[in-house]
Amino acid sequence: MSYVHVPVMVNEVLEALNLKADSIVADATAGTGGHLGEIAKLIGISGKIFAFDRDPTSIEFCQTRFTELEFPQIKFVCTNFTNIPESIPENMLLDGLIADLGISSFQLENKERGFSFKYNTPLDMRMNQKGDTTAYELINKSTELELANIIYKYGEEHLSRRIARSIKGNKYIINSGLELAKIIASAYRGKNFKINPATRTFQALRIAVNDELGELEKLLNRLDSIIKPGGRVAIITFHSLEDRIVKHFFKNNHETWRFISKKPIIPKKDEIFKNPRSRSAKLRSVEKIM
Ligand SMILES: C[S@@+](CC[C@H](N)C(=O)[O-])C[C@H]1O[C@@H](n2cnc3c(N)ncnc32)[C@H](O)[C@@H]1O
Repeated sequence: MSYVHVPVMVNEVLEALNLKADSIVADATAGTGGHLGEIAKLIGISGKIFAFDRDPTSIEFCQTRFTELEFPQIKFVCTNFTNIPESIPENMLLDGLIADLGISSFQLENKERGFSFKYNTPLDMRMNQKGDTTAYELINKSTELELANIIYKYGEEHLSRRIARSIKGNKYIINSGLELAKIIASAYRGKNFKINPATRTFQALRIAVNDELGELEKLLNRLDSIIKPGGRVAIITFHSLEDRIVKHFFKNNHETWRFISKKPIIPKKDEIFKNPRSRSAKLRSVEKIM
């Protein structure tokens, strides 16, 4: 079963990007094309959109959803967003770029991708399954201390040492997300928790497997070379580690980038009600100074 991802803060993103009919735009994280479709409708066929995703199945999904006949203005590229400068025509500058970070429901709910703690399927978690290390391999090759550090650093999980000890001390091979989630829950024994106890550890493993924070920093550092003066960038983050990187990058580079709003934009109550996944989203947008 394929889940189409419900895009977050679509109107806020469109407003932040301030696009015109002939704008040239990049969607750095096309996913299943929620933001992409709205951008395509807004700029029409006289504009141009480059849609990127490092996940081949997401790009294939979008190519089927947005046929070349109906949406000739969209060009799809399956690559990491750090390669955007090499993937657009030389000397072309963009009016806008959106990056909606993390994974989509399409990926999370696909059992075979191994992102979820709900399913009894192999722990993969690679956004591009042609990539190198799976979460299963990462767990097995890391020492207990290395694993604890990953869980602490990328999951901000205070029980990281206890969880790493339970994982590495487990007698049986941990094959699936569900098995790993049970071991994490046992390490939580006696503690109260509001969210599933596996949430932070799974986030940490996913970030490490895909080097998500490293890739985000590389993208931010390359933006100046692809955005026009006056062009805009909108970035949606889903946890404080990413948001901190985005906020500090634009603050530290204030001679090039101007925040469009001082505070990040967060979803309205009715959006959170309709799409609970949006509750942790923050949108930061900037304009390149002329
Ligand atoms: C939250 S989803 C985007 C959803 C999309 N905005 C929509 O409306 O359907 C994030 C997407 O970004 C992709 N992604 C994450 N990091 C990436 C990177 N470094 N380069 C390219 N794509 C990336 C993921 O594979 C995933 O499909």
